[in-house]
Amino acid sequence: MRVYPDIESLRLHARRRIPKAVFEYVDGGSYTEATLRQNRRGLEDIDLVQRVLRDVSDRSQAVELLGHKLPSPLILGPTGLTGFVHPNGEIEALRAANAAGIPYTLCTPSICSVGDLKEAVGTPFWFQIYVMKDKDFTRYLLENAKAAGATVLVITVDVVVNAQRHRDLRNGLAIPLRMTLPTLLDLATKPGWLLRMTQSKRKTFGNYQGYLKEGTGTQSMAAWVAEQYQPLLTPETLGWIRDFWQGPVIIKGVMTPEDAEIAVEFGADGIVVSNHGGRQLDGASSTAAALPAIARAVKGETTILVDSGIRTGADIFRMLALGADACLTGRAQLYGLGAAGRAGVSRAIEILQAELDVAMALTGCRTLEDIGPHCIRHRGQAARKTGSGA
Ligand SMILES: Cc1cc2nc3c(=O)[nH]c(=O)nc-3n(C[C@H](O)[C@H](O)[C@H](O)COP(=O)(O)O)c2cc1C
Repeated sequence: MRVYPDIESLRLHARRRIPKAVFEYVDGGSYTEATLRQNRRGLEDIDLVQRVLRDVSDRSQAVELLGHKLPSPLILGPTGLTGFVHPNGEIEALRAANAAGIPYTLCTPSICSVGDLKEAVGTPFWFQIYVMKDKDFTRYLLENAKAAGATVLVITVDVVVNAQRHRDLRNGLAIPLRMTLPTLLDLATKPGWLLRMTQSKRKTFGNYQGYLKEGTGTQSMAAWVAEQYQPLLTPETLGWIRDFWQGPVIIKGVMTPEDAEIAVEFGADGIVVSNHGGRQLDGASSTAAALPAIARAVKGETTILVDSGIRTGADIFRMLALGADACLTGRAQLYGLGAAGRAGVSRAIEILQAELDVAMALTGCRTLEDIGPHCIRHRGQAARKTGSGA
């Protein structure tokens, strides 16, 4: 495999290998992409406190999460259309997660279905749903997921409406790809992707196929699902879900202490502090800015996961120092997948783990318990304290 020193190098290679419309679907954010940028800025503005003269020869990033011991505080989060980035992308990503011993989350709008994962891999995974108006459909999804070996349910609550991504509109993103002249010209430069995609098990949303009438086109499927988003997750709906889902339930898309407290009242086993990677509410603050207040409100009462903007192991360190128990990645794994398939996802995981290990060693932390607010400094704060600029 070629040398990929960091996630950015996977990103740049993925950009060369996959069609522009697919790459920009992965890479982009909603509207002005202010939140997409803010997620990075929020993390980059946090300095790590270098500590020396400590024995850090024996380090571990193991963590206990929802009753399971994981080698790293890292989970591959749910990402739609993964099977478009690479053939059978969801299967390949699950295999890479398994090789690293970390969880993989299949999303509802995936290309490979829950059944495909069971058939091809047969190991447990996490499953993500949106709350849908059609209860039969929700039940259908959950029962299939359970039968396929899903153990943890992630309910995403920050897509009550679909925000617009300008890049997708400009690229005419559709499934199958809309064959405009620019798309055709771009595809002509990506023969490898076209050839690889012929090995794909499926060409459309795998989890919808068995439920909707046979022969429903992909566009009609997407339109039907978009109308299905239920504006509100209520305790009643959650209670109804829990009647036939006995495993842990995580609520994804929480950005305030108030909503975190509601999620705890609902009995959520965990929350994901997330702004959907800057793909929904443009103008929302970074998750790094939102996390500390949420951790103060609910730490210890529920598992706190976080995502959005994580591109380095040092970012994971920052999120843990801000109060998270573990992190999800979205784009990092997709850049890996686009660059080199399963090996690329494995490389993305390896990069993040190795960088976290170095960050721990150089901040004097031997275990995740050693990581806390004392390990970081907000750059603005440091400047204010020293009175710089006066
Ligand atoms: C291409 C793409 C598709 C996504 N699809 C979903 C989805 O179907 N369900 C969901 O809950 N989140 C989805 N997300 C959001 C991710 O789960 C996650 O919150 C976000 O990507 C984290 O930010 P990051 O990409 O900067 O790591 C998607 C993200 C991307 C990049």
